[in-house]
Amino acid sequence: MRIGVISDVHIDKNNVKNERTIQEALGRIVQETGTDLLIIAGDVSNNYATTLSFLEEIESRSGVDCLFVPGNHDLWNIDYPEKDAWSLYRHLQKFKGNITAAPYHINEEWVVIGDVGWYDFSFGSDKFAEVHFQEMKYNGRIWKDKIYADWGLSAAEVHQFFYQKLRNQIEQHKDKKIILVTHVVPHENFIVPTPHQVWDYFNAFLGSRHYSDLIAEFPHTIKYAICGHVHYRKQFRLGETSLICNCLGDKEEWLHSKEAYEEISHTYLTIEI
Ligand SMILES: [Fe+2]
Repeated sequence: MRIGVISDVHIDKNNVKNERTIQEALGRIVQETGTDLLIIAGDVSNNYATTLSFLEEIESRSGVDCLFVPGNHDLWNIDYPEKDAWSLYRHLQKFKGNITAAPYHINEEWVVIGDVGWYDFSFGSDKFAEVHFQEMKYNGRIWKDKIYADWGLSAAEVHQFFYQKLRNQIEQHKDKKIILVTHVVPHENFIVPTPHQVWDYFNAFLGSRHYSDLIAEFPHTIKYAICGHVHYRKQFRLGETSLICNCLGDKEEWLHSKEAYEEISHTYLTIEI
């Protein structure tokens, strides 16, 4: 079976105005590569309704099932200031491939477990104090989850909730082969290299070391750990686990072309199980 992996397609920024550029390109590429199942690791758009309709459209264009975990952007309430992140999180579960509702069993052997994950500042440089990370503001820039991702909890508490949920599901399925999907990054190899003028600080909001510890605890079980968020395209192996971060990212960051089909062709990755 061939599984396609991509994240951070940010269609509200990347689609040519009034067109469905990303949907058309990705739908075609999923078909052309003979993909059987697609995994999208979050950040489709800044509006949950846009994200939901994208996911439905990708399934119908490509003809394959799509699995999804929300990213922080999908949970932003810019367009719905009255809604908190929990309510948007539940709305996104209307999509049947949203694996935050339940793990997805590919077959007897393989299961896909995933969730947003969150950050606990453990990837930030220790030259900053915890209270400074809580402000989510540095050098004139604000990390926008502070404004738009309204969980009503501290970042560390949100992280703890998702970490515990994932941990329980992994324990329940430890006799299977697991594909673990988070939006946030699970390992420090994915953070922005330091020292860096601003990322020494902003790396704090990329993920948590607890996820790599969790992967290390189940070295024969978690075969893949897939993430997005940092807008990198990078893979490495840790024992039996392949870690994959495969973001399309914003058009300004595209590496090969400003044309969606070409850039997604370079980005899109498939794994064989
Ligand atoms: Fe993103």
